[in-house]
Amino acid sequence: MNKKVGVIWGDCSSPEIVKQALKVLEVIEKKYGHKFDYEKIAMGGEAIDLYGEPLPQHELDKCLACDSVLLGAIGGPKWEGLAGEARPEKGLLKLRAGMGLYSNNRPAKIWPQLADASPLRKDIVEKGIDFIIVRELIGGVYFGKHETYEENGQLQAVDSMPYNEAEIRRIGKIGFETAMKRNKKLCMVDKANVLDTSRLWRKVMNELKEDYPEVDYSVMFVDNCAMQICKNPSQFDVIVTENMFGDILSDEASEITGSIGMIPSSSLGETTCGLYEPIHGSAPDIAGQDKINPIACILSAAMMLQYSFDMKEEAQAIEKAVNDVLDQGYRTADMMSAGMTLVGCEKMGDLIAQSI
Ligand code: IPM
Ligand code: MG
Repeated sequence: MNKKVGVIWGDCSSPEIVKQALKVLEVIEKKYGHKFDYEKIAMGGEAIDLYGEPLPQHELDKCLACDSVLLGAIGGPKWEGLAGEARPEKGLLKLRAGMGLYSNNRPAKIWPQLADASPLRKDIVEKGIDFIIVRELIGGVYFGKHETYEENGQLQAVDSMPYNEAEIRRIGKIGFETAMKRNKKLCMVDKANVLDTSRLWRKVMNELKEDYPEVDYSVMFVDNCAMQICKNPSQFDVIVTENMFGDILSDEASEITGSIGMIPSSSLGETTCGLYEPIHGSAPDIAGQDKINPIACILSAAMMLQYSFDMKEEAQAIEKAVNDVLDQGYRTADMMSAGMTLVGCEKMGDLIAQSI
């Protein structure tokens, strides 16, 4: 199969991990007879340096012309002082919205080899951690009105959090469908004791649940959910939630699995053209030191093969290679534990590529 892949190399440590993901894809091309053509796309800090804005229209257009887009991570101290609209993160938000990617899928699954790296107690980890956060990605407070103004001699700021029924329904459906493919348990996380948007989510989800009688559907307040994720994560199968809650909970969920450096994500809309990225940031503190863990990016490439290109076997070959390398005791610094072999980013990429 021939596929055109947009590649956003990203900022700080990001190019180091993207390089490893492409190395792995090269092995897949050879082994399975595919051809991936890469289109380099600038977004985030790199685009600010090149074009003065985090996602110029011509770069978004390039993404839209690809079969899918692979991204490392963006942002860093160099662009910290910029105003909201000019920041690297705004490029990512524009990209998600411009590609219509409303559904972000973030798996939280413990690799048994990394159980020791989890900050949770052993008896909690042993009960199993394997759930997915389905995060609404192009609505809510991220895309509401942002304003800073002066009132009565004081600066005041407002961020509004809008959601309409259709936006809730389309992501709610993904939540139910994801649950149907797994263990048929769906938990909707909100703050319905305070927020109107949450109460609307409840109303729409209650209507939707009638279409999925087999799914064991429940609701939970976000503060309680944050607690339950570390107290009893084995209770979760699929969590569906709004944009900002999903952002926060997915960082927490990744950390209990041992390292945020292991968690990939997919973002999809109505077509198979998606965006695939690790959920971690650009790790400016270790940039250029060959220390960053490339596995989340490599697994994001695997997700792209599976969900956008229908290459399930190829995706599984990558996941198996990661599993084998972890079995052999190789670890990057973020997931290092006693008795294991410490390797850098490049070496980890080599080991995984060789294992396929
Ligand atoms: C993420 C990130 C982004 C988000 C930032 C970089 C805008 O934290 O993908 O989780 O908040 O969505
Ligand atoms: Mg985040």
